[in-house]
Amino acid sequence: MNNPYSAFPKRVTICEVGPRDGLQNEAETVSTADKVRYIEMLVDAGVTAIEATSFVSPTAVPQLADADEVFPAIHKRDGVRYIALVPNQRGLDRAIAADVREIAVFTAASETFAQRNIRMSIETSLATFRIVIARAHAAGMAVRASVSTAFGCPFEGAVPISNVVRVSQALLDAGADTLSIADTIGVATPNQVVDVVNALRESGIGLERFGLHFHDTRGTALANIMAGLQLGVREYDASAGGLGGCPFAPGATGNVATEDVLYLLNGMGIETGIDIDRLRDASRFIDGALHGRVVSRAFRALEAAAARSV
Ligand code: COA
Ligand code: ZN
Repeated sequence: MNNPYSAFPKRVTICEVGPRDGLQNEAETVSTADKVRYIEMLVDAGVTAIEATSFVSPTAVPQLADADEVFPAIHKRDGVRYIALVPNQRGLDRAIAADVREIAVFTAASETFAQRNIRMSIETSLATFRIVIARAHAAGMAVRASVSTAFGCPFEGAVPISNVVRVSQALLDAGADTLSIADTIGVATPNQVVDVVNALRESGIGLERFGLHFHDTRGTALANIMAGLQLGVREYDASAGGLGGCPFAPGATGNVATEDVLYLLNGMGIETGIDIDRLRDASRFIDGALHGRVVSRAFRALEAAAARSV
């Protein structure tokens, strides 16, 4: 019999974005100590790639204004990528001072979103990142680059795939080591994932160079991950508990929940190295700090099952 799952990767990397994409969109600001504890709990659960914070303007994202305190306070583990967002040279200076080893730069596939999010045109952002990336590499850092609004823009609507390919190529030309192709507002459907991934591959970008970032605003995130798996994509961003969203993208809700992704991958026998029960401990902790904001369905179901069994 034909098995459509036989080509799926045996192991994938989850890049946990809860401490960054998750917390940046919450009305309530979590204390510095709780952020550090949350990050350490996620790593204790087996997370090996984590967006820990952002060195962005504190006016733009007040929730992460304590990045300079959070990052150095994390008790680092060998083999874990602790990633911090950097929007410009000022952010890079702060990241260097905090001894960050991997940064994430970010622009968009649509002009209006780039303007609203980072107050730069796409071209200006690419010119800025060329310098930021060169300096980061000189400081021994790795660089991930995010392409926001790759599947749709809250201001412009449909985004041509040619824009996604052009911006992705430009970021790699500027020196980025890897890419995260993001559905910032959660509009993508699996056929679009196939089209975008195939277009990136056809332009010469290998599977080892990019991962996918989905928001579950319209309930299609897991279906989109399935499409990515079918094409052999091996890195996915996810946020513990399903927190998150971009404050500059009207209507966007949380990232796909790490628990929901883990439940799916565990069931399909695809390894991540993350223990879903320990990850739930981290989600429960941050849910307490935020007074009940976790939305993950797998989290709720597993918590309810655990409550029934005591
Ligand atoms: N860290 C701290 N402060 C910063 C900074 C950084 N990386 N970059 C700029 N600033 C400060 C400047 O010092 C200046 O402060 P002042 O008003 O006290 O003089 C102020 O922010 C404005 O600086 P400017 O260079 O004019 O920036 P801007 O207003 O054009 O904003 C960004 C550009 C990129 C800094 C800002 O839009 C930003 O941080 N965006 C991030 C958005 C984000 O994180 N989105 C979610 C992730 S998808
Ligand atoms: Zn996001």
